[in-house]
Amino acid sequence: MKTLTFNNGDKIPVLGLGTWKSKPGEVYQAVLWAIEAGYRHIDCAAIYNNEKEVGAALKKAMTDGLVKREDLFVTSKLWNDCHRKEDVKKGFLKSLSDLQLDYVDLYLIHWPISFKKGVGFAENREQYFTYSDVPLSQTWQGMQGLKSEGLTKHIGMSNFNISKLKEVLAIGGDGPEMNQVEMHPFLRQEKLVEFCKSNNILMTAYSPLGSGDRSTSSKKADEPKLFENEIILSIASKYEVNPAAVLIAFSTNRDIAVIPKSVNQERIIQNFHSGNLILDKGDLDQLLQIKDQYRFIDGTFFTGTKSPYTLSDLWESD
Ligand code: A2P
Repeated sequence: MKTLTFNNGDKIPVLGLGTWKSKPGEVYQAVLWAIEAGYRHIDCAAIYNNEKEVGAALKKAMTDGLVKREDLFVTSKLWNDCHRKEDVKKGFLKSLSDLQLDYVDLYLIHWPISFKKGVGFAENREQYFTYSDVPLSQTWQGMQGLKSEGLTKHIGMSNFNISKLKEVLAIGGDGPEMNQVEMHPFLRQEKLVEFCKSNNILMTAYSPLGSGDRSTSSKKADEPKLFENEIILSIASKYEVNPAAVLIAFSTNRDIAVIPKSVNQERIIQNFHSGNLILDKGDLDQLLQIKDQYRFIDGTFFTGTKSPYTLSDLWESD
C-alpha cells in the first residue's frame, strides 16, 4: 500500500478505515476484518462514540499477533468541548484510554468550533465558546504539548479552511501536519489542496463515497449522487471496478489519504484493493472536471442564528 510521508520521515498509509457512523456493535468486527485484509490505518474520533470498541479490536489484533503497534497508524480527534488548553489533554487521554493505546499516531482538532465542556452538540448560543473566549491558539498550544510529551506522533486538524490554517501557522512552534476535510469528485478542494501542499501539510479525504449512511435529517432530497455520476460510472467500467474504487483512487492518485467507512467485510476488502488502483492522467483530469459540485457535510449544524459561528469560519468563500 502506498504511503504519504510527514516532514520527519514518518509514513501514513494512504488508505485507512473510516469509523464515523460505524455502530459500537459493528465496529469491533469491522476493524478486525480491516486489519486482516491488510489495513494499517484506522481513523477514529471521540465523538464517534465507538472508540472503546475500536480499542478492543486493536487490542485483540495485537494480542493475536495479527499486527504490531508500530505497524499501525491510528488517528483520533479532539471534540469541540475540549478546546480550552486545560481540557485538550483530558479529551486526548479519554480517547487514548478508550483506544487502549499509549500513544496515537495522529491527533486532530476535529472542528474550528468550540463548545462548553460537556456539550456533545450545541443547540443554542449559551452552549458555545466564541473565538474570544477560546482562541484557536489556546487549543493549538494544547496540541503542541501532547506532541512534545510523545503522546501523539503528529498533530493537525479537520475542517480547517485556508484562513484558519494561516492563523495556526502564525502561532509558531510545531505546525499543522494534516488537514482532514470532505473531498471527492464533487468537492475537489483545489485551493485548499494547493495551500496545504505548499505548507507541507498532508491531507485526508473524509466521506469519499458521499457518506450515504448519514442521518436522513442531514440529507437534502436533491443531493447529487456520486454512485450515479456518468463520468464516475464510465471510468469504473473502463477499469472493470465498482464506482467506489474510482472514488477511492481519486484521492490516492492525488497523494491524498482517504478513509472510506464500511462495516461490511466484502466492501472492506474491496475498498482496500482500490487503494492500489492507478488511474490514467486523462481519467483523473475528467474527474477533476465534473460539473456537479456538492458538499455533503455542509456545516449548517454549527452555524446560523443559534451559534456564534458562520459558514465562513468553516469553508473557503468560493
Ligand atoms: P457499509 O458500511 O454498509 O459498507 P463514506 O466513507 O463516504 O462515509 O461512505 C460510507 C457509506 O458507503 C456507507 O454507507 C458504506 O456502507 C458505504 N460503502 C462503503 N464501501 C462501499 C463500496 N465499496 N461500495 C458501495 N458502498 C460502500
